[in-house]
Amino acid sequence: MKNELLQQATQSVHWENRESLAFEFILLIKKIIGDLSGKTFLDIGCAKGRDCEIFQKEGLDPIGIDNNPNLIGDAKTQYPDIEFICGDAALMPFENERFDIVYGTNILFYLDLDVVLREAFRVLKNGGYGVFSFDAYIIHLDRGEVFHEDSLDHLELVVRDLDGKVVHVGSQETRLDAVPFKHKHEFYKVIVQKN
Ligand SMILES: C[S@@+](CC[C@H](N)C(=O)[O-])C[C@H]1O[C@@H](n2cnc3c(N)ncnc32)[C@H](O)[C@@H]1O
Repeated sequence: MKNELLQQATQSVHWENRESLAFEFILLIKKIIGDLSGKTFLDIGCAKGRDCEIFQKEGLDPIGIDNNPNLIGDAKTQYPDIEFICGDAALMPFENERFDIVYGTNILFYLDLDVVLREAFRVLKNGGYGVFSFDAYIIHLDRGEVFHEDSLDHLELVVRDLDGKVVHVGSQETRLDAVPFKHKHEFYKVIVQKN
């Protein structure tokens, strides 16, 4: 974990009632990927499984993984026909090249970018897509302190190093959160592809 404020923010389950980004991502990936039906889909940091169900309704074949056993327990109870696994997105129990799409919202900043993307690329098929929200800044609003920072240049370097390419970067978006302290996310919707 990179610093104390990031640790506090990521340990607090304050994001549960936020709106899902899945609907916006579905519009976007339909434009870029086309027909989604039957595609194998992995949600990393799936929490209680809400987005897996949204993607299942679009005809995808979803699996969710999260390292919080309570959240995975809730997901299994609520969506019994979807597979959920308790595990670490940095070391996943899946064979190489299993998924057409690896999706993750509000998860990349929990881990080192190169570690989480290397694992995502390992389980992606060749030609498969990584679909992520990518936080460039997370800022403590009362202190004015940036406690997470990353750059699209870094993302591009990591993706290129993994023999992939960035195929879409949306415009910068902002989200305000009040818990566990007032903070602001500046993030992008990004789509990357494994060559
Ligand atoms: C901010 S929540 C986002 C949940 C959901 N993706 C969303 O956007 O609403 C981050 C999720 O990632 C999970 N998580 C954190 N570190 C993880 C890791 N190393 N492996 C798998 N899941 C992790 C947390 O348990 C939590 O459910």
